Amino acid sequence: MTNYRQLIDAALAARKQAYAPYSGLRVGAALLCSDGEIITGVNIENASYGATNCAERTAVFKAVSQGKREFAAIAVVSDMDRLIYPCGICRQVLAEFRVSTIIVGDVNGNYKVYGAEELLPCAFTEFD
Ligand code: THU
Repeated sequence: MTNYRQLIDAALAARKQAYAPYSGLRVGAALLCSDGEIITGVNIENASYGATNCAERTAVFKAVSQGKREFAAIAVVSDMDRLIYPCGICRQVLAEFRVSTIIVGDVNGNYKVYGAEELLPCAFTEFD
């Protein structure tokens, strides 16, 4: 059974792979799939800043491209000693794939747990 601490630790380890030469802020995410697998992601920046992909979306897109569709939770952390919260676009992507639990952490391993509805109330969905 994966717990929140394991997800935070996986995200902290993953963030070291971040490609963040512009902001200097390394972000890591760890997505728990319903089959128990953990898929990590990092932010991947671009000289054309708008082409940057956040860590959370990297994790979700990696997972979906590997055939995963059911997710339990995602943890996100950064180099900062304060909690990092998913941006609006990432919240929408998390809503699309019904990631129900979002754990936000800091660089020291402190964290808080939120339900998806708390971070994106009344999310737009096409199919339900
Ligand atoms: N970033 C993430 O990867 N996830 C978040 O939750 C917020 C922001 C990244 C995008 C960019 O590479 C850097 O953090 C600064 O905005």
